[in-house]
Amino acid sequence: MTVRLSQKEAGAYYTPNMVVAALVSWAVRRDGDRMLDPSCGDGRFLVEHSNSVGIEQDPVSAHVAIDRAPGALVHEGDFFQWAEATAERFECAAGNPPFIRYQTFKGAVRARALAFCSAHGAMFNGLASSWAPFLVATAALLKPGGRMAFVVPAEIGHAPYASPLIEYLVAHFKRVQIVAVREKLFPDLSEDCWLLYAEGFGGKTDHIAFTVCDRFEWSTRPPKQAEKVAVGEWRDSWNRRLRPYLLPAAIRDAYRAFADDVGGHRLSSFASVGIGYVSGDNRFFHLRPSEAQRWKIPASHLHPTVRTGRMLAQRAITPTTVAAWQRADEPVMLLRLQRGQELSASVRRYLDSSAGQEARQGYKCRNRDPWYAVPDVQVPDFFMSYMSGRSASLVQNTAGATCTNTVHSVRVRDRALAAKLLPSWGTPLSQLSCELEGHPLGGGMLKLEPREAGRLLFTPPPLAKKVNMPILEEGISIMQRWRHYGG
Ligand SMILES: C[S@@+](CC[C@H](N)C(=O)[O-])C[C@H]1O[C@@H](n2cnc3c(N)ncnc32)[C@H](O)[C@@H]1O
Repeated sequence: MTVRLSQKEAGAYYTPNMVVAALVSWAVRRDGDRMLDPSCGDGRFLVEHSNSVGIEQDPVSAHVAIDRAPGALVHEGDFFQWAEATAERFECAAGNPPFIRYQTFKGAVRARALAFCSAHGAMFNGLASSWAPFLVATAALLKPGGRMAFVVPAEIGHAPYASPLIEYLVAHFKRVQIVAVREKLFPDLSEDCWLLYAEGFGGKTDHIAFTVCDRFEWSTRPPKQAEKVAVGEWRDSWNRRLRPYLLPAAIRDAYRAFADDVGGHRLSSFASVGIGYVSGDNRFFHLRPSEAQRWKIPASHLHPTVRTGRMLAQRAITPTTVAAWQRADEPVMLLRLQRGQELSASVRRYLDSSAGQEARQGYKCRNRDPWYAVPDVQVPDFFMSYMSGRSASLVQNTAGATCTNTVHSVRVRDRALAAKLLPSWGTPLSQLSCELEGHPLGGGMLKLEPREAGRLLFTPPPLAKKVNMPILEEGISIMQRWRHYGG
């Protein structure tokens, strides 16, 4: 029996007809051109050009495609398995690859996908989402001079796993154009989608044509207007990210002048950014003062903690902040027990309570010894928000508090440099830095992974004063519009 995957598991979001028609009419130049759609879903790309071949792993969709595009040849099954076996090569390819994140894109399909791509010179690691290997494998099935036109997730502009794909494209096509579209192509999806056009398979290029547009407009060819992004600059100056090119060159240059200036420093040059602890059961391990009193948990076993990013609304977390949380009876006291520690009768009673019986069944608790000792409890110098609305927060920790993995822990290594640079936090330069080094999360939110936070740019305030403020502020508002902040 074939088990049908959910829409999300299969990455099955179907493309609006206008987009399908635009991509196919560019990719197909002659009736005799044979077109490949590696993940054809219900056949909406195939129906636009009957001389085509579609692959679809979902049997129900594959049958819809067969009925809908009777002239096309539809294979039911895994595209990578088919790609390994086929000797057929195509003039063109078009479609919308499945967007399945690495947690779900696994097992034999992923192993085959990565092996196929590495045989063609594109090395993806286990964190790649499915769409990027799909595009490399599709390109590898083109004839010399072939073209492809695809919907791609906007992650192509920032995800580290997108860079082996972009490297592959510029090394194998004469022309590569990426069209960033701000308004959603798929209104029901939280991810934004952009468009990719590549032609002249077998050639190579040293730049990417990058087009920024507000909304998709139907046309049989990609927009003429495009900035030439030098591949060398994309690699060396922008850490292999295309998102900075959403900004006009003048704003990008202003930012880069600080990055290249001797006074400009990345956060990682004076501090380490990490994640907080994973308790395994937040409800059980975080007690309210009234609960701690009721269970007679000694104060020495309780540690004040930042449980969520919402607690970072101030500039510093001080003993007074913690006292206010405690007065409000907030669940902010982490039960902090060590391995091999003598436990009092009252603590043992709490561990054996029904909540404790339940907590120890959880995945994290089951896999550590003893189940109640939460590892990696650190006291950082600063907390930084992981997911932010308008802008990220950097909050000093003078209360000796710790934090869960919902916020970042920032530990200063070079105190002298930190003292010189940290006062520039909150300036337009540092806010623009968060927008450029972080990435959109959907729903208007900005996410900063620890590696992205480590790249945040700081300059001493005298240098920051030399900044052309209006230009940086314009940059911030452009980037916020691209992540749909404020609707
Ligand atoms: C984003 S949808 C696109 C469908 C169609 N091309 C369109 O744009 O409307 C991706 C499709 O890929 C299919 N798919 C997922 N993994 C696949 C695989 N390994 N091989 C072939 N198809 C796959 C899904 O079932 C889904 O129908």
